Amino acid sequence: MPAEEWATAEHALRYLARADAYPHRAEGEGVLLEQVPGDARRILDLGTGDGRLLSLLSRDRPGRVGVGLDISEPMLQAARERFLDDRRITLLEHDLTEPLPALGRFDAVVSSFCIHHLEHERKHSLYGEVLDLLEPGGVFANLEHVASPTHRLHLAFFAAIEEPLEDEDRSDRLLDVETQLGWLRELGFDDVDCYWKWLEMALLVGVKPVGS
Ligand SMILES: C[S@@+](CC[C@H](N)C(=O)[O-])C[C@H]1O[C@@H](n2cnc3c(N)ncnc32)[C@H](O)[C@@H]1O
Repeated sequence: MPAEEWATAEHALRYLARADAYPHRAEGEGVLLEQVPGDARRILDLGTGDGRLLSLLSRDRPGRVGVGLDISEPMLQAARERFLDDRRITLLEHDLTEPLPALGRFDAVVSSFCIHHLEHERKHSLYGEVLDLLEPGGVFANLEHVASPTHRLHLAFFAAIEEPLEDEDRSDRLLDVETQLGWLRELGFDDVDCYWKWLEMALLVGVKPVGS
């Protein structure tokens, strides 16, 4: 089961120790922050990990209320510690292979480097659930690990992040950008595009049409 390894503290802590070291990551996160309107009040983070994205989105947004979902207890513990004094953040254990829980509507749904752990069929159905959860005009911003078009480029990505290919996450289920953008359009998102990309890191964005 793909998510199993995230249940171990060793795997979670190994990722967290490296999280700041991925080249160009801050650029992608910066573009994601630009796409989430400053007045977005309710924000849902899928696979929140230690709450990194929710924390970034909290800066200069005093009115925001955040919900972070994750399956990993070690990750949720790290997030609880991060948000110890922040009552506007709710952290919930949830397996994203299952349908999203009823949490009300959100102005923005974000995710970073999580959805690629789901099987492709589940990625697709999750995108549909995200559209349903968004308020009209709400934005979905998914900073994601995507598939390279060729094996050579896959090797180049691992070389660029200075990670041996043997250490590739066994829970990865990488999918190309074009397929995912096509799905978002078919599902009914507006303004769908890849807003930023560096090798296998890409920011996929779609907006729920205002009239829906
Ligand atoms: C690479 S980490 C990214 C964490 C965080 N979003 C960040 O940007 O630092 C991937 C996260 O996805 C979570 N995850 C993987 N599979 C999951 C699943 N089936 N349901 C919920 N969370 C899952 C992991 O527990 C982990 O926290």
